[in-house]
Amino acid sequence: MKKYLVIGNPISHSLSPRLQNYWIKNYNIDAIYEKEKLNEDELEKLFINMRDKKVNGANITVPFKKAVIPFLDKLSAEAESTQAVNTIYLENDRLIGHNTDIDGFEMGIKKINYNISNKKIFILGAGGVVPSIIYALNKMKVSEISIANRTRKKAENLKNLFDKLKIVEWGKIPDFDMIINATSIGLKKDDEINLNLLSIGKNKFFYDVIYNPKETNFLKTGKKLGNATENGKLMFIYQAASAFNIWHGVRPVINDEAIKLLD
Ligand code: ATR
Repeated sequence: MKKYLVIGNPISHSLSPRLQNYWIKNYNIDAIYEKEKLNEDELEKLFINMRDKKVNGANITVPFKKAVIPFLDKLSAEAESTQAVNTIYLENDRLIGHNTDIDGFEMGIKKINYNISNKKIFILGAGGVVPSIIYALNKMKVSEISIANRTRKKAENLKNLFDKLKIVEWGKIPDFDMIINATSIGLKKDDEINLNLLSIGKNKFFYDVIYNPKETNFLKTGKKLGNATENGKLMFIYQAASAFNIWHGVRPVINDEAIKLLD
């Protein structure tokens, strides 16, 4: 039986095993997918096990998407451009790092038929998933991307990867069509983003990477102001589907049952 893992810290909340094992069962694959909490100094263990084929594939989540890179033999173009790896597989005895968060974001947006091309995007936060979102936004030909982060330096560092980014001071609101919450504010039900969004008007699109809780206060505010909203559930499902496809050679169908697994 093949073994797959998601590695992160913390990891107990991860819904990846539920989704991956559901597809493994549906497609009659002889495999199991588990979660494992590691500290950074234990990461090497994963790669020893992968080279020994005791572990056949892995997802990497917060905070290790960049930290795993030195252990790998090759990065896909997407992983290289974002300096972020969320999916690892072995190909001809070489460890390959890929980034399916990009696919996840893009396919999630396409699924809901939001016409994103030529839109002005404003991103809040500069954490692990943001380079993937920026890469996907550029691929989908948005007109401009502004970004604000509490720690400005982290937003500025992203300019090394994406030179056209506009850095905005945390608390300021630039003109935008779509605003993306990529901070961790909202993971706790009472979390509030300290931004004054009251003057932004309608016909905007509020997107939150967080999908649990289903509707953060950020999305509630967006809705109250008369805007469209979407959470990060489809992004999560599609990144998982792309990883599954890499490991097992099948692209799983995204049906209501799979979507409900994450409720
Ligand atoms: P990591 O930074 O390890 O990748 P993450 O969960 O992906 O972790 O990112 C957390 C994001 O939420 C960061 O952009 C963080 O801002 P800082 O870079 O300033 O830490 C942001 N964040 C978390 N709590 C916040 C708060 N109370 N106010 C503003 N931003 C916050």
